[in-house]
Amino acid sequence: MTRRRRIYEGKAKVLFEGPEPGTLVQYFKDDATAFNNQKKGIITGKGVLNNRISEYLMSRLSEIGVPTHFVRRLNMREQLVREVEIIPIELVVRNVAAGSLSKRFGIPEGTPLPRSIIEYYYKSDELNDPMVTEEHITAFGWAAPQDLDDMVALSLRVNDYLSGLFLGIGLRLVDFKLEFGRLWENEEMRIVLADEISPDNCRLWDIKTNEKLDKDRFRQDLGKVEEAYQEVARRLGILPEGGPVDVKGPKTVQ
Ligand code: TMP
Ligand code: ASP
Repeated sequence: MTRRRRIYEGKAKVLFEGPEPGTLVQYFKDDATAFNNQKKGIITGKGVLNNRISEYLMSRLSEIGVPTHFVRRLNMREQLVREVEIIPIELVVRNVAAGSLSKRFGIPEGTPLPRSIIEYYYKSDELNDPMVTEEHITAFGWAAPQDLDDMVALSLRVNDYLSGLFLGIGLRLVDFKLEFGRLWENEEMRIVLADEISPDNCRLWDIKTNEKLDKDRFRQDLGKVEEAYQEVARRLGILPEGGPVDVKGPKTVQ
């Protein structure tokens, strides 16, 4: 196997040098973590499914004019993406109370929020991704006010579009996390959607039963974790034929 330069290894993905300058190969692992790495496990086939799910969602978003880093899927576990300068902010959009919001404010899970709420977290494993405000972000120079405005506007569009898309397949988009990057083209800088959109970073509940079909099944030991990711892919109409066939290790792209 030809060796490729590993640029970065995260908890669920690996980034390799891409085939052309300005590109990277994003490899999806089956590794799952929760509570900032305190809980670790493997969700068999997750990488294959998240690669497909993220490809599908990023492609649909691109069609409605949301700029993303996604270029194309290369194989079962890899996709080609544009190399961007990641903005160290995790932007969470919430439609229904769940997770840390329910805990922080004592609002029962499942309570609809009066309007969509946006939260920011500073991306730092050492600091446990602390929640931050616009003031911290701009004062510490993590993003300029204009960058933040663009990120918020894009996130609200993503929320509206994906809420409708998931509703159409019987799923409620409870909340999700997005990451953005700066893409330089000539002298111009654009903010684009980066990372992935998958049941790893969305909460998706069945509309009728409220069954959780996302990483909360792993976080909360609810069982049927693999099945939940498969069900989301199945409803999106993108379950790989023959199920989530495992691919052993990263495959080399020429
Ligand atoms: P939270 O309720 O735990 O704050 O999570 C809000 C949403 O963000 C949920 O859809 C899961 C996602 N998320 C991530 O993708 N990465 C993270 O590190 C955390 C804490 C949440
Ligand atoms: N992604 C985070 C972690 O690895 C937290 C989470 O998703 O719950 O710990």
